[in-house]
Amino acid sequence: MISPTERMLAEIDGPIGWITFNNPTKLNAMSADMWAAIPVILDHYENDPTVRVVVLKGAGEKAFISGADINRFEERKSSTETAASDSDNMRNALERLEHCKKPTIAMIRGYALGGGMLVALHCDMRIATEASRLGIPAAKLGISYTLGGIQKVLDLVGPAVAREILFTARQFNGAEAQAMGLLNRVVPDGELESFTRSYCTMMAENAPLSIQASKGIIAELMKPSGVADRARCEALAKMCMDSEDFAEGRKAFAEKRKPAFQGK
Ligand code: COA
Repeated sequence: MISPTERMLAEIDGPIGWITFNNPTKLNAMSADMWAAIPVILDHYENDPTVRVVVLKGAGEKAFISGADINRFEERKSSTETAASDSDNMRNALERLEHCKKPTIAMIRGYALGGGMLVALHCDMRIATEASRLGIPAAKLGISYTLGGIQKVLDLVGPAVAREILFTARQFNGAEAQAMGLLNRVVPDGELESFTRSYCTMMAENAPLSIQASKGIIAELMKPSGVADRARCEALAKMCMDSEDFAEGRKAFAEKRKPAFQGK
């Protein structure tokens, strides 16, 4: 009803506004319409006083979100306009998520990879199961997170672990991800939804303005004090986007084989 695409479901149940990434045949890989739907749903939830907490989840049993839709990268490469509008949609969605006045919780079952990790990292908290698989496989494809995404990883886990996550590009299970600081809670698989519901109900009973104030103050205190060279960061990410290796990464994914990277 309030979602502009069937690939994103919005449902209010008691104090919880649910957002479901609904692209299960691709393990909920994110397409442009899905990014664009996030601000629309959040606007609705922010203006509905019955919604006290927003919970994001993936449809099906296998994944929260498997990342940006890799097939879509081909289209993006051939059109600067598509690439720019996809990036705008994504940036806008992540910003809205980060600054949502209400608490946002990523309820992670299965894979949270790449762009899926970005969504989870822009939520206030992450609850997952022991069998969840979290990671940033950008280096397996030949691309890179940009400044905002890497800042989020850094804020949560610090530089040593951020390097480990990005350089190895491997998937971490629930226990590893929690030890790294990526997850707030890890619960047995069968208890994910019941635990999340009761934890959110606990928050929903607290004063919304207190939570809003804490969230705002934490966000202010987390603002980076150093002056990052934004142009250099953009150029580094673009270098990957334009590389032969990224073409090889996409091709290898499509052909279900290991990529052979050349460093160019
Ligand atoms: N983009 C587009 N399609 C994706 C996708 C993505 N990010 N992730 C999975 N899919 C598709 C697969 O191509 C496959 O489609 P097919 O049935 O038409 O072949 C389907 O979803 C199921 O995935 P599959 O790879 O068969 O499942 P699996 O259980 O063997 O492996 C993953 C699961 C998540 C490990 C694997 O799909 C994967 O590595 N995905 C890409 C993850 C990634 O690099 N994300 C970052 C992108 S920025």
